[in-house]
Amino acid sequence: MSVMMKLNYLLKFTTFLLTLSITLADNLLDDEFFRELSDNPSIIEAYNESPTVAKTQVIMGPLRKDKDEAATCGQLISSRGFEYEVHFVTTADGYILKIYRMINRNAISSGKKRKPFLLIHGFLESCANWLYTLAFFLANLGFDVWLINLRGTTYSTNHTKLNPNTDDEFWDFTFYEMAIYDVPATVNYIKNVTQYDQISVVAHSQGTIIILIQLSLMPDFEANYNLIFLAAPIGYLADIKGTFALLPRLEILADLFGAPRAAFPPGLAYINAFGGLFCQNPLNQLICLQIFDSVIGFDYKQINLSRLPVYISSIEQTSFKNFGHFAQSVIKDHISYFDHGEDENLALYGSREPPKFPFHRIKTKKLILISSRGDFLATQKSVDKLRHSLNGTSFIDHIISYDNWTHLSYLYSTEGYQYFGKSIYEITQKYFKNGPKNG
Ligand SMILES: *[C@@H]1O[C@H](CO)[C@@H](O)[C@H](O)[C@H]1NC(C)=O
Ligand SMILES: *[C@@H]1O[C@H](CO)[C@@H](O)[C@H](O)[C@H]1NC(C)=O
Ligand SMILES: *[C@@H]1O[C@H](CO)[C@@H](O)[C@H](O)[C@H]1NC(C)=O
Ligand SMILES: *[C@@H]1O[C@H](CO)[C@@H](O)[C@H](O)[C@H]1NC(C)=O
Ligand SMILES: *[C@@H]1O[C@H](CO)[C@@H](O)[C@H](O)[C@H]1NC(C)=O
Repeated sequence: MSVMMKLNYLLKFTTFLLTLSITLADNLLDDEFFRELSDNPSIIEAYNESPTVAKTQVIMGPLRKDKDEAATCGQLISSRGFEYEVHFVTTADGYILKIYRMINRNAISSGKKRKPFLLIHGFLESCANWLYTLAFFLANLGFDVWLINLRGTTYSTNHTKLNPNTDDEFWDFTFYEMAIYDVPATVNYIKNVTQYDQISVVAHSQGTIIILIQLSLMPDFEANYNLIFLAAPIGYLADIKGTFALLPRLEILADLFGAPRAAFPPGLAYINAFGGLFCQNPLNQLICLQIFDSVIGFDYKQINLSRLPVYISSIEQTSFKNFGHFAQSVIKDHISYFDHGEDENLALYGSREPPKFPFHRIKTKKLILISSRGDFLATQKSVDKLRHSLNGTSFIDHIISYDNWTHLSYLYSTEGYQYFGKSIYEITQKYFKNGPKNG
């Protein structure tokens, strides 16, 4: 038996055991879950937004101390005195995305024009990750803030034809489909609702991959954007530091983990509930921080330790295939089309290796790169390769002056406004004054 086959059996067996235990646990939980669902208004509200987040809340039960732990986007928005609208965007390939729009009554009653901003989240993230800092900065500044939930997140698990629970095909996607379907559909939808010709975007991590792919394949779509902020920009992925750098870079492993057509990670509600509870305990908090930081970069100063259970309990899901596409990218470096193996690649792409996305086609006049030296995943070495592969120089290329700024400081830093939010504000002030008349 080849190594590949042995690994394949091992993976199938592990997945089977995992699925079995989750199913058993789910059956035990069912009664409790439905009781809570029927008489707890806050759980019912959460369930309508994201069934998985509601389940996390039920599992945590009375041990859920901070209302932000496993909170839905709607709950995070309301708890800070804002209102919101939920919109549904249907993509050309049938995925139904749940999109949030923040409503700032003060800004509306001031009568000022509220330019739309779309925030695009990263890998294993959702709208929630923007709702600890940046989304509120922008809403308070009077922008019309929209939050996407990309396909496969617990918020956007619906389709016009496919059932995510029974049709494997639902999970047959990666960041490539998010780039060519989710983002254009959402941008067109927001333009239609707001009647603005252009919108601005802030993308983080996987969100930046998506924008870079979209703009390289559809360079003229740039006309729909006002300013394009890429925070922790990723066009290359081989140079990573920390825990992920220790993983073996074997194509067979990448292909294997990318193979199941299912949600990744399985049993998310349990992972989030138990992860959140573990990190609540002050005795465990340093361990949590060490694990967290070993992936994203070390910062002990601008992270609020007591907020860790909030961040851990809001981890999101995607597809196994997307995870596999990331693993392939770490091996290949330049972000490329999905690698299906030589034969299928030949048939699909006309070459044995999947083609690289043509970053040189991206028009750069509106591109704002924001990066840092303390980021383990979007390292300066990789950002430099991206800088050199674009056609021309980006409009603004900003490196955050705090050297320990990590991959997730954009979302969680206690000094997020000073180092990140304020830069966005200042750039918009300058640009919108002299920029395109629509802006
Ligand atoms: C999924 O979308 C369909 C429309 O295709 C809709 O009728 C249904 O209510 C949606 N399901 C959920 C759980 O939102
Ligand atoms: C634009 O919005 C209007 C109503 O607000 C709707 O009737 C129409 O179908 C929308 N068009 C597109 C292309 O989404
Ligand atoms: C900053 O990063 C360095 C290197 O990763 C680390 O040794 C140091 O402890 C960090 N400092 C703070 C304040 O987090
Ligand atoms: C840290 O988080 C706690 C609780 O979540 C909050 O009360 C406190 O104000 C936060 N501290 C800072 C510096 O943001
Ligand atoms: C760079 O942009 C210019 C002007 O849009 C275009 O003519 C040229 O072909 C582009 N270069 C590459 C390598 O795509």
